[in-house]
Amino acid sequence: MSDQKKYLVTGANRGLGLEFTKQILNQDHIVYAACRNIDDIDELQLLSEKYQENLIVVKLDINNHDSIIELNDRLEDVAIDVMINNAGTIGPLPYFENTYKQHFGTIDYDVWSDVFKTNLFGPVKMAETFLEQIKKGQDKKMIFISSVVGSIADDHQKAFAYATSKTALNKSVALLADILKDEEIKVLAMCPGYVKTRMNGGGANLEPQESIEGMLKQINDLDTESSGTFVRYNGEDINW
Ligand SMILES: NC(=O)c1ccc[n+]([C@@H]2O[C@H](COP(=O)([O-])OP(=O)(O)OC[C@H]3O[C@@H](n4cnc5c(N)ncnc54)[C@H](OP(=O)(O)O)[C@@H]3O)[C@@H](O)[C@H]2O)c1
Repeated sequence: MSDQKKYLVTGANRGLGLEFTKQILNQDHIVYAACRNIDDIDELQLLSEKYQENLIVVKLDINNHDSIIELNDRLEDVAIDVMINNAGTIGPLPYFENTYKQHFGTIDYDVWSDVFKTNLFGPVKMAETFLEQIKKGQDKKMIFISSVVGSIADDHQKAFAYATSKTALNKSVALLADILKDEEIKVLAMCPGYVKTRMNGGGANLEPQESIEGMLKQINDLDTESSGTFVRYNGEDINW
């Protein structure tokens, strides 16, 4: 058995997805780095020069189910050890100028619908579509980057679109853990912490490097017993 694993990472061109890609490559594994805009991948191109054939950049728009199926056709014969469903949206940017679209009284239902497409339907469609490739992998892991903002018990932010999209994603992870148990596929919902990326416009307190180091450790430790749980990047349990 080879120690080299194959990872599929969505939203790999920036933020947490890019940092996942860097650290996984640095551990000598192979990354299929999925991005929706193949013309906006300067940082991935630099990584390509260093890691050569271990980095394969692929096109994927998770809002477009045909795009998910096209990628699946391309990777038909690839055994994927770990799929990291990272791509996501907080809603229209800049966030603080647009949050009213997610606040009760001024909700923009088109925004809500778009956020659900990206944060919920996309990752679940990825799980349905890539099931066969994950069954073929040695690790058999599906990871879903959620947020504590989706926790009913622990968070009270009033951003209806983003918060409920992550709550619904969490419920989907719990369902998947049950449905995929017999296939020995492990699933995990994770919160990366409040991390400095484009998403939260500079208010955050955590560097991507620390968040991803923590999340990769949790992913490595994931087993059948911890499948279907919701954890922070540092391993703390989060209440649903
Ligand atoms: N940063 C935080 O503090 C924080 C906290 C909790 C949870 N999260 C979660 O962490 C994940 C990554 O966020 P981030 O902080 O790295 O944000 P980011 O810097 O805004 O990156 C988001 C990534 O998702 C991609 N994406 C968005 N919609 C897509 C689509 N339809 N198809 C394919 N890719 C798409 C973006 O691609 P483009 O570059 O093409 O737009 C980008 O690569 C998200 O799921 C987010 O909800 C982040």
